[in-house]
Amino acid sequence: MSRDSFGSRFGALVAMAGSAVGLGNLWRFPYLVGENGGAAFIIVYILLSFLICLPIFISEFVVGRRSQKNAYAAFRDLSGGSAWRWVGLFTIIVPLIVLSYYSVIGGWSVDYLLKSFTFSFTGGESQSAMATMFSDMVSSTWAPLLAHTGFLLTTMLIVVVGIKDGIEKFSKVMMPLLFVIVIAIAIYSVTLPGAKAGLDYLFNPDFSKINGEAIAAALGQAFFSLSLGFGTIMTYASYVDKKENIMFQSTATAVSDLMFALIAGTAIMPAVFAFGINPQSGPGLVFETLPYVFGQMPAGGFIAILFFLALLVAALTSSISMLEVAVAYLVEEKNLSRIGACVVLFVICWVVGAVCSLSFGPLSHVEIAGGNIFDFFDDLSSNILMTLGSLLTVLFVGWRLKKTDVYDEFTNGGAISRNAKIFGVLWILIRYVCPLAIIAIFISGLL
Ligand code: ALA
Repeated sequence: MSRDSFGSRFGALVAMAGSAVGLGNLWRFPYLVGENGGAAFIIVYILLSFLICLPIFISEFVVGRRSQKNAYAAFRDLSGGSAWRWVGLFTIIVPLIVLSYYSVIGGWSVDYLLKSFTFSFTGGESQSAMATMFSDMVSSTWAPLLAHTGFLLTTMLIVVVGIKDGIEKFSKVMMPLLFVIVIAIAIYSVTLPGAKAGLDYLFNPDFSKINGEAIAAALGQAFFSLSLGFGTIMTYASYVDKKENIMFQSTATAVSDLMFALIAGTAIMPAVFAFGINPQSGPGLVFETLPYVFGQMPAGGFIAILFFLALLVAALTSSISMLEVAVAYLVEEKNLSRIGACVVLFVICWVVGAVCSLSFGPLSHVEIAGGNIFDFFDDLSSNILMTLGSLLTVLFVGWRLKKTDVYDEFTNGGAISRNAKIFGVLWILIRYVCPLAIIAIFISGLL
């Protein structure tokens, strides 16, 4: 049976951009920017995104498209069957860990979308009432479990249909919709009286805040946001046509991801500041602060519906890419049917996700490394596993693959002359700059 693939350039592009654009852009980026020096942090973030992360992205692209196989087989076959295959297995396990807790947050967005349909935030409730609403929801047993089940099931139903008819079609419709919604909210948000304070928080440069920790935070965010180091880009790239331009597809994805993060910040922060609130990070920002803000603003009920719809769509276009990594592995290496693979992975991710979900309620007494189980998975994967995966991938491409093979894949056999011209610089970045920078930034973040 021939292998499924993306049907068009646009389809491949929106699917990759969909994998990149996710919860990371909507709830982590705006807060990290404000906390770490505004425009100064954005400059660092852009430099790291294009100097370090783009070469890693291209490395994953090269491995995936060269092999046209799942991540495990890609490492195994391109290395001639060596121990590198275990790195491939690593990049299959990590997205499953991420998907498990990501699905819990996806479930919360389902819950809040349903709440916004019944205008639950627009009765003029206090900020503390919104905080209580959120903590009551996450600490209960059944509601978040049900929402997690619904989110994971939807992810599975899209993936089970396949690459062209499932993932690509879904992304083609949803990604433009997502951009339109977030741009509309951003326009509305900057026109609110008092919005300027939010724009200042985001875009006023404060270089004194740029230290080792801020740089490590920027790199961690860029890895998470671009879905690097955990097999997704590699797997999607294996479905991309050999005629496509790797440099173009990779740069377009990185630019879309950055643009989306900036627009998301512009949608969220001016509105938060217009109502005199201090922004929180993570779940607190999206599920406590924003519902309160929606309750205060004119037409906030409708903005809430749009926002939680955007959050859900952004989460889904990322979660399907995480599931596909292991589906491709089970189908190609273990001869499972697509539906069989999806069911097996659904069960695994559901159980791990359920434990994460319960760690806010009945299992909240269980602590690992000073936090609950959910925080442990989040920290472990975004701070350590993705960094390690990215490091191993650039080392593989820069030191294990033949330079001529990487050149051949990157330039489509020498046919794309613009790529041929920049290959020398890219090679130095992949071989030396990226590994050293990842190690240095990782260590400086620990100090
Ligand atoms: N890249 C995905 C996100 O930003 C994982 O949420």
